[in-house]
Amino acid sequence: MTSSAARSAGRRRRPRALPAVASLYGLLLLAGCAGNMPSALNPGGTGAARVAGLWWLLFWISVAVFVEVMALLIWALVFRRGNARVRHGQPLRFVTIAGAGLPFVILVAVYGVGLRDLAALGEAPGPDAPAVEVTGHKWWWEVRYPGASGATANEIHIPVGERVRVRLRTDDVLHSFWVPQLMPKTDLIAGETRETWLHAERAGSYRGQCAEYCGNQHAHMAFLVVAQPRADFDTWLARLNAPARSPETDTERRGQQALVQGTCAACHAVRGTTARGRVGPDLSNVGSRWSIGAGAVPNDAGHLGGWIANSQTVKPGNAMPPQPVDAAQLPDLIAYLRSLE
Ligand code: CUA
Repeated sequence: MTSSAARSAGRRRRPRALPAVASLYGLLLLAGCAGNMPSALNPGGTGAARVAGLWWLLFWISVAVFVEVMALLIWALVFRRGNARVRHGQPLRFVTIAGAGLPFVILVAVYGVGLRDLAALGEAPGPDAPAVEVTGHKWWWEVRYPGASGATANEIHIPVGERVRVRLRTDDVLHSFWVPQLMPKTDLIAGETRETWLHAERAGSYRGQCAEYCGNQHAHMAFLVVAQPRADFDTWLARLNAPARSPETDTERRGQQALVQGTCAACHAVRGTTARGRVGPDLSNVGSRWSIGAGAVPNDAGHLGGWIANSQTVKPGNAMPPQPVDAAQLPDLIAYLRSLE
């Protein structure tokens, strides 16, 4: 094929490829809209609804300005080309109004709406509102409730339909608390207690994520907000004060022994046992949690075994060193931890 023939073949192919790529891109975008996507544009509560409202306002203003500018451009190119009879004075007035006056009005209006939303988002819930204390660690979230002796990790339960006060602290570096469907980001700053709130309009799980780069496992610093009816939430909270479930089978009993007598107890706590470590997550309800390692792997027996044996292969750099667990003890330990719900 000569070079000119190749060029013309390339020219012929391009128009067919372009719409196909554009359609595929469009389909991917639409696919992202399906289901309960953890997106700020799919709000599940009043906080995120304000952010989404502002986003759509800005989007439609941008669309209107873009269409207007393109229409003027086409009009100038098509109809005003070579037109020498431009009256002086008129263009200046047009540019002043459309090019400076209109943008000024739009920007001031959007600024006003933004200030209104900012004030609403900063308004703390009343003193009687339920509260939760969240501490960021490299790389997991410690979750405690005032008055409850126990703690959980990477999972925040809240009553649906109520505004919940969230107190945020960090144990080490800068993190950022973000639940896109419920509330915009709040940074966790060393030495400070920051406050935000959560409100979910419907029961369900909302994915959260650390939104500030905090080290090599920043991406594995996810959490879940579980919004549940008041009665279910009260039951769940009462269990956070109670001792962990007792082992019922011989395997589970051996697993509990291995945990409290081994190295696990130095860093982890299980309520009602002598394991009272505070370095790593409280394991009293670890069997019911949504994941292991703050979103690193699913919470099932296989992944749990792998995590105990050597979590460094799953989440390199995390604070838990490889464990010298006897191969015969590992199934007992897994069975006991899986039973803690
Ligand atoms: Cu914590 Cu990023």
